[in-house]
Amino acid sequence: MKNELTRLFIEQFQTSPQVIVRSPGRVNIIGEHADYNNGFVLPAAIDKAAYIAISLRADDEIHLCAVDLKENFSTNIHNLKPIGDVSWSNYILGSAAQFVKKGISLKGFNALLTSDVPIGAGLSSSAAVECATVFALDYLLRTGYERIEMVSMAQKAEHEYAGVMCGIMDQFASMMGKANQVIKLDCRSLSYQYVPFKLDGIKILLLNTNVKHSLASSEYNTRRAECEKAIELIKPHHPSVASLRDATVEMLDQYVLPVNELVYRRSRFVVDEMERLNDACKYLEQNDIASMGECMFETHEGLSSQYEVSCKELDFLVNFVKDRPEVIGARMMGGGFGGCTINLVQENAIAQLISEIKPAYEAAMNLPLDFYIASIENGTEIL
Ligand code: GLA
Repeated sequence: MKNELTRLFIEQFQTSPQVIVRSPGRVNIIGEHADYNNGFVLPAAIDKAAYIAISLRADDEIHLCAVDLKENFSTNIHNLKPIGDVSWSNYILGSAAQFVKKGISLKGFNALLTSDVPIGAGLSSSAAVECATVFALDYLLRTGYERIEMVSMAQKAEHEYAGVMCGIMDQFASMMGKANQVIKLDCRSLSYQYVPFKLDGIKILLLNTNVKHSLASSEYNTRRAECEKAIELIKPHHPSVASLRDATVEMLDQYVLPVNELVYRRSRFVVDEMERLNDACKYLEQNDIASMGECMFETHEGLSSQYEVSCKELDFLVNFVKDRPEVIGARMMGGGFGGCTINLVQENAIAQLISEIKPAYEAAMNLPLDFYIASIENGTEIL
């Protein structure tokens, strides 16, 4: 990868890259739509990643090249702003802009991007690019930020340049991931713990619906607002409740349900999901994988019927595997409205499962089904 990227970089910019950074996509075992509600999540970095090669320039110009898309974009450091629909460059520019906002004097740069994180698959391809860019620029500008600071810069790039008011999970997992470990992250305090995730004979199988729903970002922001609405309804009675992390089912029953049934369903899912994550972590510690898998199925049910961020393609895939003993757990993953399901599957049964589910999905949905067996890898690093 390093040699190939160096070669492409020289071909594009007639100079060598000064740094090449790899930053991975992520999976999340359980704890969905919990991060922006200050709850816990259980993500991990995977073996699919974005790679960015960068060198600083002597002038103020910024030249970007996305190798896979065969697209280029140029601007300069005085003109940093989100661009209409050239989304990949927004992730890079948004990340660079965070340095300027911190008062760092940014320099012009050339950057070449490639990625094997499938786009729109719920594997955080955008967080991977943001983390890679922030990490590379931190190195080149010698700003020496802590990783945790860079996580927050990458998250702000997504807020400000992609317009998605995402939580902290994706950027955290990409930047902080460790091989064979999932991260139990408290999104309120940002304290975290690595939990070994080596399940004998079981693999993480990702099934990609290939649905990229255009509603994803607007509905995401709507869900966030709905959760905030629940807090508004509870707060007058319990002033110390700052987020759904502090809310109980009793509070929701008493103050939300009578006023707004939709907001009740949304917030009820979140409060239940926080409880489920706790249970799932306990089961994981006890090596009771079957019970952990049950929690995943329950999460899917909640995301589909209460939080309403699933779609018929995701539901099809989860329903198909639900009663198969070789599938320990499955659910839709990430923001929703398309992308992948995450499945914990007995390794020796994967080939047979694929040979059945692929034609069934393709015939029923008239879309191709892609699949990946994900391994858990280290987070952002210099190559
Ligand atoms: C997206 C967001 C994350 C998180 C998930 C849902 O991936 O970027 O911050 O909210 O959706 O759990």
